[in-house]
Amino acid sequence: MATVIKTVNLTKRYGSLIALSNLNLTIEENDCFGFIGPNGAGKSTTIKILATLLQPTWGEARICDHVIGYQSRLIRPLIGYVPDYFGSYEDMVVQEYLEFFAATYNINGIGRTKVVNDALELTDLGYKRDSLVDALSRGMKQRLSIARVLLHNPKVLLLDEPAGNLDPRARIEMRELLKQLQRMGKTILISSHILPELQDLCNKVGIIERGELLFSGPWTDLIKQTQTGTIVRLAVQSRQDEAAQLLAGQPGVQHVSTDNGCLLVTLAGQVRDYSFIPQRLIAQGFNLTLLQEQQANLETAFMQLTRGIVQ
Ligand SMILES: Nc1ncnc2c1ncn2[C@@H]1O[C@H](COP(=O)(O)OP(=O)(O)O)[C@@H](O)[C@H]1O
Ligand SMILES: [Mg+2]
Repeated sequence: MATVIKTVNLTKRYGSLIALSNLNLTIEENDCFGFIGPNGAGKSTTIKILATLLQPTWGEARICDHVIGYQSRLIRPLIGYVPDYFGSYEDMVVQEYLEFFAATYNINGIGRTKVVNDALELTDLGYKRDSLVDALSRGMKQRLSIARVLLHNPKVLLLDEPAGNLDPRARIEMRELLKQLQRMGKTILISSHILPELQDLCNKVGIIERGELLFSGPWTDLIKQTQTGTIVRLAVQSRQDEAAQLLAGQPGVQHVSTDNGCLLVTLAGQVRDYSFIPQRLIAQGFNLTLLQEQQANLETAFMQLTRGIVQ
């Protein structure tokens, strides 16, 4: 697989603040890379550097082997950057908006009509072509931003929190659109703090906090790396506190906590067999209404890896 995005010791200072510290990222062709971190972690700074809009203080970034800063003019046609804000476009309708941006990429004539129609169709905005841009819902504006960066058919998409502040339905629509773009062969870097979404969408993740990359790779590796003992989720019909006490005293149990009316039982290190849990509970007269192994996910892994410190 060809490397599409590579950063080597990428560092950005704003005065005395180190916003990015020696970031080493590798993103391969057709990856959908989820860039996760709390507010202030350095996600937007990284994406702006990759979009050739911000100079790094130190280190190097390349897109398709072109060096940012020296070969930015070769890089710009290859990338589509969606920032984390959407400007105001008074009195402009959707179709005009896209035609305007197509013109800035020197796409003219019949070619322009075609790319605008294709982008509208792909982002499911064809029925809004005559609507005022400012009157679109946030979800539609986000899709329109993506339509805009697809006009010049870039290889790489740099998306800064495209699902931020979207309602559940708009989030799902955004996710489906991004999956489709990945199937079309795009390489996608998407930043977010909405973890479950990325788990479904991305094949790799990078976890960043306070300008430092804590992990980068397939998220399945992240889960393996951070997972400690097996966790069993269970519920009893009554006397939950008593059940918790009983289980906490069992050899093989490391920790018992409550979550949403259930008990979460973390087993000690290598313990995988949890048949003793229902056995003990039933022997003590508890009615068991739920017993399942808790699947580790990106969220639990992320919580373990980061300490929630924000600059
Ligand atoms: N133009 C700027 N001037 C000074 N500090 C900045 C500037 N842009 C960002 N920062 C700081 O750099 C850090 C990283 O910011 P940012 O990349 O926007 O994080 P994220 O996108 O992960 O929320 C933050 O502490 C932020 O306050
Ligand atoms: Mg940001």
